[in-house]
Amino acid sequence: MGLAGRVAHLEESATLAVGERAAKMKASGIDVVSFGAGEPDFDTPEHIKKAAVDALAKGATKYTASSGIAPLRRAVAQKFERDNGLSYSVEQVLISCGSKHSIYNALQALVDPNDRVIIPAPYWVSYPEMVKCAGGEPVIVQTDEKAGFKMRPEQLKRALARRAKAFILCSPSNPTGIVYSPDELKALARVIEETDVWVISDEIYEHLIYGGARHVSIATFDGMKDRTLVVNGISKAFAMTGWRIGYMAGPREVVEAAAKIQSHSTSNPTTVSQHAALAALEGGLAATQAMAAEYVKRRDVIVRRLRAVPGVTCVQPEGAFYAFPNVSDLYNGSVRGSGAFATALLEEVHVAVVPGEPFGSDAHVRLSYATSMDRIAAGMDRLETFAKKLRG
Ligand SMILES: Cc1ncc(COP(=O)(O)O)c(C=O)c1O
Repeated sequence: MGLAGRVAHLEESATLAVGERAAKMKASGIDVVSFGAGEPDFDTPEHIKKAAVDALAKGATKYTASSGIAPLRRAVAQKFERDNGLSYSVEQVLISCGSKHSIYNALQALVDPNDRVIIPAPYWVSYPEMVKCAGGEPVIVQTDEKAGFKMRPEQLKRALARRAKAFILCSPSNPTGIVYSPDELKALARVIEETDVWVISDEIYEHLIYGGARHVSIATFDGMKDRTLVVNGISKAFAMTGWRIGYMAGPREVVEAAAKIQSHSTSNPTTVSQHAALAALEGGLAATQAMAAEYVKRRDVIVRRLRAVPGVTCVQPEGAFYAFPNVSDLYNGSVRGSGAFATALLEEVHVAVVPGEPFGSDAHVRLSYATSMDRIAAGMDRLETFAKKLRG
């Protein structure tokens, strides 16, 4: 008796270990400052909750079409037209149980055993594991921190020299917060155009973007729409992580293949959540913009404080709600590597961060600034004390 081979090489979500320890410490009454959460600290806007309550009252408690209710698929198509200048028919849209599920379905639809999938590092922890779930081989391409963690066209070209099935792009990025400029995306698109690689573009943080940065979908460049699956969702933009709605749009044959997989696994995403998502997409971006206005203030504080710590450097995040500082100059004694750093930081000064190692860089840790300004100040005071001690 044994388990399937496909789980043998899967990593457990390493981000959970520190989180679990932090939760235990909190439960025992310790004042832990948590920079761990990958979710907004804001509540879902009232008009969205109300739409869900109204939908329940009207009986939104049954199965729907597996790919999602028609008004929501239409609203997603309209969203792509409005926000991204991309035209899709309703048949080219699939609603899933979170954008994580959308990416999973996309990979299941595209990747055969041993197919290579290119992933620039640092990456969101789930990409390589989801590629492995599909039997594929994640091909990690290290980006240069000095180049702002952005994959250069030559790097992509080199990676594509050996045939690859897909390329996963995430901008704005979790964990670095970097945002590719339109010119940078165009240069990557030019490389991709000469190949037959699929692109999965994860744009879940598109509306959480700061300063002069601008979000453009790679699917908008010449020749890209027919080979790109654009993935997005409501979790981050509308503070709706628990509702579990994400979506993809792309070439009809791929979306229909992904829909088939969904129809035999989860069936439709939760009915009432689909109605809430519809209200979110049709209700405008005022609440999202108010949240983004808070995030940018917090970003400015946390990045300034991080950069003021001797031994810490931090690339400027232009989107999402994460800072990804390089703390490797502080590694000392038994604190070698991001896991040991995160554990010691939690044990000694009660600050929870996520180790960078499962994101593809052991020199870094990830701090989420989806928490209040007071907690940011308290956490950074403690981190300063900890860093001073490490430097001896
Ligand atoms: C880059 C990225 N993509 C996708 C997701 C998944 O979000 P959800 O499944 O809640 O839509 C996350 C969540 O942390 C993320 O950071």
